[in-house]
Amino acid sequence: MKELVGMDGLQLIAPSTRTLVMQNIVSGYEKPYEAVGLRKNGEEYPLRLEARNIPYKGKQVRSVEFRDITDAKKAEAEHQRLQSQLIQAQKMEAIGTLAGGIAHDFNNILGAVLGYAEMAKEDSVPGSQASKKLDRVIEAGTRAAGLVKQILAFSRQVVTEPVPLNPEHIIKETIKLLRPSLPSTITIKQQSEGSIRSIIADPTQIHQLVMNLCTNAFHAMEQTGGILSINLENQELSAPDLRQYPNVKPGKFVVLSVSDTGPGIPPEIRDRIFDPYFTTKEVGKGTGMGLAIIHGIATSLGGFVTCDSIIGQGAVFRSFFPAIELDIAPKIESTDVVPMGKEHVLFVDDEEMLADLGKTMLERLSYHVTLCNDSNTALACFREQPNKFDILVTDQTMPGMTGFDLAREVLRIRPNLPIILCTGYSNLIDEKAAKQIGIKAFIMKPVTKKQLTEALMQVKISDISQGEDRQQTTSL
Ligand SMILES: Nc1ncnc2c1ncn2[C@@H]1O[C@H](COP(=O)(O)OP(=O)(O)OP(=O)(O)O)[C@@H](O)[C@H]1O
Ligand SMILES: [Mg+2]
Repeated sequence: MKELVGMDGLQLIAPSTRTLVMQNIVSGYEKPYEAVGLRKNGEEYPLRLEARNIPYKGKQVRSVEFRDITDAKKAEAEHQRLQSQLIQAQKMEAIGTLAGGIAHDFNNILGAVLGYAEMAKEDSVPGSQASKKLDRVIEAGTRAAGLVKQILAFSRQVVTEPVPLNPEHIIKETIKLLRPSLPSTITIKQQSEGSIRSIIADPTQIHQLVMNLCTNAFHAMEQTGGILSINLENQELSAPDLRQYPNVKPGKFVVLSVSDTGPGIPPEIRDRIFDPYFTTKEVGKGTGMGLAIIHGIATSLGGFVTCDSIIGQGAVFRSFFPAIELDIAPKIESTDVVPMGKEHVLFVDDEEMLADLGKTMLERLSYHVTLCNDSNTALACFREQPNKFDILVTDQTMPGMTGFDLAREVLRIRPNLPIILCTGYSNLIDEKAAKQIGIKAFIMKPVTKKQLTEALMQVKISDISQGEDRQQTTSL
């Protein structure tokens, strides 16, 4: 305090704002204002000044209040950060709602694209150019349907469908999609060490994870070119190896590494790259969600992600997924084996094009089909001849009466009738409640022939086993 006596007050002000303070002294300014203060150790800090010109012993003097506002500034910055995070979160929520709204219509469109492509493929000569091109249409359409689901899974926590799968297959497929969009200065190398174990995951999630990691690697090497390596290996991790990840169970893992030879990631941001909305990219190029999604996917599958980087040499992201302990064979993707039916199906969908498509699909599988574009008409039709139909396949979202309500009414008349409910991602109904009222199977729209056949098999099998139960009970 003593040091201050007789000191030139301007010495307490950083040189950058001394002129401003001088001007205010000269003009006798009396309102509070901000300047930059200077500490004894030369450090600068945010300062708030407020002066009064007062008479003192017959002279006019200026009394000045100095207030260190470092903490207030920090609190304000934090408030602004939270505010912008909130705005981002609200934006994401809005996107989620929008996506949910679009998903219903989009799925219907995709349903028509996929369905007609599948039928055109059946009509085309096996192995012909046309048939191969249609395979591409079906592949791309299925991918699009998966992505819609993924967007919604992120924004609305829709349940994903994990299945046993071979990650090698998905990675090869992703690289095939990615390669054309990369400049020739980036070389892709893919390697798998030995025979890779299977994991349990939703194929779309793995696809998204690989795409996000490869996009980051691509952005990192966009200017310079380089090598993008994607490797798969089996690894066993013990409890001490996993000390940092208390929620991960020790055991066998499949490790997917994606590495680049870009500039690397500065150590000071490495802790933040997995945070939602953290990005160093310009607006329009990155949202900062990529790694947050990757982290979410790996964690939800019981695994984790690590990042290593050396400045100037590149970065490597390793995703660890728990491997399937027993040798469960991955689910075979096949549309070749098709069970044929002779039953009479009542098919209900308010979208005419989808209804026609469903009818054609079922007729090609040798079912008899009665089509209804309206749930009330469908119910009336069923009431008239309840024993005419063997299976009901109905859309969920329809004006007048939902598929769920139609099913309930129909089950009052024929309690064991096999029913398949087709639902869009945007209107996921409570599966438990539906099972409780007796709906036997669900199909996620867009409906493909494969899904339809599988659901028909499922309801038929459960119908047969129920029939057996009934017979056993009656014979007792
Ligand atoms: N391979 C990499 N090399 C260098 N920096 C990287 C790499 N991968 C990620 N980063 C850094 O981490 C940040 C966050 O990545 P993240 O994938 O979460 O978001 P983004 O790529 O910026 O945007 P989005 O993925 O949503 O389009 C990036 O902005 C970048 O600074
Ligand atoms: Mg990214």
